[in-house]
Amino acid sequence: MPTPHDILRTVFGFDDFIGLQGDVIPHVAEGGDAVVLMPTGGGKSLCYQIPAMLRDGFGVVVSPLIALMRDQVAALRQAGVRAACLNSSLSMQEMNEVQADLEYGRLDLLYVAPERLCRPEFLERLARLRPNLFAIDEAHCVSQWGHDFRPEYLQLSIIPERFPGVPRVALTATADLPTRNDILTHLGLDGARIFANGFDRPNIRYTVQPKDKPQHQLLQFIRNTHQGDSGIIYRISRKKTDQTAAFLNKNGITALPYHAGLSAEERNAHQERFMREEGLVMVATVAFGMGVDKPDVRFVAHLEPPRSLEAYHQETGRAGRDGLPADAWMTYGLQDFAIMRSMIVGGDADDRRKFVEHRKLDSIMAFLEAPGCRRQALLSYFGESIEPCRNCDTCAQPPKTWNGTVAAQKALSNIFRTGQRFGAKHLADVLKGETSKRISQLGHDQLSTYGIGDELSGGEWRSVYRQLGASGLLEVDIEGHGALHLNENSWQVLRGEREVVLRTDPVVPKVSRRRTRGERIDEEGTLATSEARILFDALRAKRAELASERGIPPYAVFPDRTLLEMVRYRPSALADLGLLSGIGEMKLQSFGETFLAVLEGHEAINGRPDDLPPLPQQRSTAKPARKGASESALESARAFTRLGNVEEVAQERNLKASTVWIHLASAVSSGEYDWRDLCVLEEDAVREIRDVMTAFRTRGIMELSPVHEELQGRYDYGLLRIIRNGLNREGASK
Ligand SMILES: Nc1ncnc2c1ncn2[C@@H]1O[C@H](COP(=O)(O)OP(=O)(O)OP(=O)(O)O)[C@@H](O)[C@H]1O
Ligand SMILES: [Mg+2]
Ligand SMILES: [Zn+2]
Repeated sequence: MPTPHDILRTVFGFDDFIGLQGDVIPHVAEGGDAVVLMPTGGGKSLCYQIPAMLRDGFGVVVSPLIALMRDQVAALRQAGVRAACLNSSLSMQEMNEVQADLEYGRLDLLYVAPERLCRPEFLERLARLRPNLFAIDEAHCVSQWGHDFRPEYLQLSIIPERFPGVPRVALTATADLPTRNDILTHLGLDGARIFANGFDRPNIRYTVQPKDKPQHQLLQFIRNTHQGDSGIIYRISRKKTDQTAAFLNKNGITALPYHAGLSAEERNAHQERFMREEGLVMVATVAFGMGVDKPDVRFVAHLEPPRSLEAYHQETGRAGRDGLPADAWMTYGLQDFAIMRSMIVGGDADDRRKFVEHRKLDSIMAFLEAPGCRRQALLSYFGESIEPCRNCDTCAQPPKTWNGTVAAQKALSNIFRTGQRFGAKHLADVLKGETSKRISQLGHDQLSTYGIGDELSGGEWRSVYRQLGASGLLEVDIEGHGALHLNENSWQVLRGEREVVLRTDPVVPKVSRRRTRGERIDEEGTLATSEARILFDALRAKRAELASERGIPPYAVFPDRTLLEMVRYRPSALADLGLLSGIGEMKLQSFGETFLAVLEGHEAINGRPDDLPPLPQQRSTAKPARKGASESALESARAFTRLGNVEEVAQERNLKASTVWIHLASAVSSGEYDWRDLCVLEEDAVREIRDVMTAFRTRGIMELSPVHEELQGRYDYGLLRIIRNGLNREGASK
């Protein structure tokens, strides 16, 4: 019986559990119910996938994400997991195949949409087949409180009635208490153990800029730090979404819009392109994003603030799911809050709900103007306290604070003198004593506040208004015209009863060096040389080719991290490749040789750097790994010495011939077998191969592809590998 850790390592190719996986998985595998609250990209999926694989039979995964199910299943299948989905996107024949697989016990995981699960005939069939667990993903969809409410989710309360004793696990990244309570009550999970860990996403860097020309600021941000990267840009309305997508395309950045105004087909097509293509930018309203598990989204940008810190946390969490550095970038102005307040007021929620929504906006305003660490401010909202993070804009460049009491008094009295009818731009102009037709028509050049603000620039005055708004020292009118009003707090300032501390806005460097693609994620400087970048591109090209042949997204072949590790460590044997992150046994089998060939081909042309770091340690900390070939490889080697033929070994062991070749090569390279015992070639053939190999070696070429070519492809790579490994050992023992 494998342990959870065995599956993590051999199937998914990861070394250690992340987040609470190590606690949740055994609990669920042993039949416990669970509610799992982990941040976006926190690794919730394995919390039900591994238990379902450990338990007899199959697990049922309920998910609202029909458009993403196929890719999720395809990605699992690449790792060798027997997964399938049932939803309206399947053809009749596909449907029948899945049904048959179910009946014959050929599945570990079945993904279904909630409406299908709750059909009586389907429940009937399931009851007969007895699933080993139910996972309810995106469980916050059961809550009417959130923005993703799906009425079908309410029907899921039938699961505990129909399937008593079958463990259930509900998972979500939504943090707030009302949602959590809805999950417990509506899904009958009152008795379940709750697993909640921190909400920090340390690899995300938070940056907030005051709004000036938002689209140009965005363009500068992308060009400076994310040229060629995948990203998501959130905008508040459909119109602005379309505008920004068009703007980016005009400026050479491929972008697609996504919002509820597009047809379902368009939305699906755009989503699919985003998942499959590299370097694509999605410009979207909040309609986009739930369950988008693309691991290499390198930035999430907001051109208007989100409606709450929960939403901000969730939306920005879609960046950097692969754990590599990513950016959450936002630009905002006071006007945005005017619009958002008016949307709340004009919406059809009840008063209590509206009150809560206003308070949520207050919290996000406070976050945006926080003088200290952004991460600290964000996490403290979720009840966590941390040290300053050193990975946000305010940590990198602590804002200077100054006594802004007098400035605030000037700014507020200017609001009063102009009749509480104007926005920050006009108010700043009056303080600066600008001359314009509008100012003279309004008679604002006659006011006592006209031209009293020489000490600050127009931009700085706008910043003063913005900060006063954020700290509740003035009101923005709710009708959405952006006029500023005084409130009780303003009068305290005007009467001198209250000190005001303001901060300087961050200076955004105008020109900074543009980065090349991939640089942002390359913490260790793996891609510092052009030779390394050429290899990285070659690996990516191979990945794209394999993915499109199979009709799956590139990350389902390997995520960026795995390719980066290939560049960093340059594995030259399958066993070494298998040590890298994200390469489980199945992927090693299906893709290993292909990627080794790319590495070899690259080295043949570009050589091999001589300062490579040692390979990462053997996988598994739980089980001290044997230095040597796997048990399965030794079994193949034993069988070969008995049968003398790879095909027969493959048949007897129910393996692919290519796997057996790999086994034999690794039994030789570990020194547990002599190559002569695993090679049945005539003496002449062996000599020919060794001569060619040696000739290349004396020229410093160690790879097999030129040897294979020189011998006109007459010998299988597997065979060449065995002889090469034999030569290596002989060389090493000399
Ligand atoms: N133990 C692990 N080691 C390394 N990477 C992992 C591990 N577990 C999961 N991952 C990776 O982390 C990423 C996020 O995992 P997952 O999709 O399960 O997140 P999630 O919690 O379901 O997020 P969401 O709330 O967006 O659905 C994936 O790319 C996955 O491959
Ligand atoms: Mg998930
Ligand atoms: Zn910080």
